[in-house]
Amino acid sequence: EKVLRVGLLGFGTVGSSFAEVLSASGAQDVRITHIFNRDVARKRSHARARFVPAEAVWTERVEDVLEAADVDVVVELMGGLDPIEGWLRSALNAGKHVVTANKQLIAYRGAALFELVASKGVQLLYGAAVAGGVPVIPGMSQGLSGDQITRISGIVNGTCNFILSSMEAGADYSEVLKTAQRLGYAEADPSADVDGFDARAKLCILARIALRAEINPEDVPAQSISQISAVDFAYAKELGCTVRQVSRAQIDGDRISARVGPMLVPKNSPIAWSHGTQNMVVTSGRFGGDVVFSGHGAGGHPTAVAVMSDVRAVAEDSHAVRLPAKKVEVSGGVIAPHYLR
Ligand code: NAP
Ligand code: HSE
Repeated sequence: EKVLRVGLLGFGTVGSSFAEVLSASGAQDVRITHIFNRDVARKRSHARARFVPAEAVWTERVEDVLEAADVDVVVELMGGLDPIEGWLRSALNAGKHVVTANKQLIAYRGAALFELVASKGVQLLYGAAVAGGVPVIPGMSQGLSGDQITRISGIVNGTCNFILSSMEAGADYSEVLKTAQRLGYAEADPSADVDGFDARAKLCILARIALRAEINPEDVPAQSISQISAVDFAYAKELGCTVRQVSRAQIDGDRISARVGPMLVPKNSPIAWSHGTQNMVVTSGRFGGDVVFSGHGAGGHPTAVAVMSDVRAVAEDSHAVRLPAKKVEVSGGVIAPHYLR
């Protein structure tokens, strides 16, 4: 059987979780052969390093991965624009596929990268870049490609949702931001989350896929949630509302309205029911009406699932992933309702 050989860039929250998810999958056709990170000695003592095959090469020289003949796909889980774009260009130019969770890269430099990808006949997949483990990108680019989407709205930043839904329950902003950082939800610089730049990049990615609109992220107004305090929740409550960071984009001919920021959300809206790292994206289609995507939008394991799904798509040279099913017995019994409570 052909084995897809993975060169992993970054062994942090998502990178180490990817190693665990891949190991737990038992897949024989995908194997990590190389890992690049600074301070490899520290990374090798990470609890999740045990999920990396013993024969994998750990290196502090990125060329060892980019130039390795035995790497078929580079999985980039570091973040940032430079020098990452140059590194991924080298990988694509060398005929390697790329899987990334890097929303800034795809939002700012995606258009040029897609041109390169088309000329090289390789794949660049980024399902983890928006909404973590929620398959918004494959859902929009495949399942909804037959509709004409006119509007996208919802919650695409787990850290802000974790902060605001915790503040709704009485928590202190600074304390809960620290918790989000400790749990691996926040970006390396958490101002990207709270000031709306992370959500703005994601909104631009979704606008490109669903609204077929190429937007410069800098043109999208982003308002910070850092000024929201307990008093805002008190006033919101009097109005039957709560506060969430909401991202919206709506296309009307050649014009698009787009915005990210804290908003009053009626308590009876599904968006208000999003707690913790839950993301929720609602699309409105001309023919199909509204479609809702919801689930964990941040955190190592949920995000690693999206990375793993992209890696599987590369391994199978398809987005239509075919998973083997085994025969199991139906036992009956009671299943607790998980969505209707
Ligand atoms: P992280 O925990 O900070 O991991 C990044 C890893 O890359 C760390 O091991 C870091 O090493 C290493 N690294 C960063 N810059 C480096 C450099 N210049 N040279 C060598 N090593 C370097 O970040 P993460 O949360 O896993 O996020 C990774 C990517 O996934 C980002 O693009 C992020 O936006 C995206 N993402 C994250 C989530 C999430 O919930 N965390 C969800 C979706 C998408 P050190 O440990 O030494 O810093
Ligand atoms: N920091 C991001 C968030 C990670 O909180 O949503 C997921 O993209």
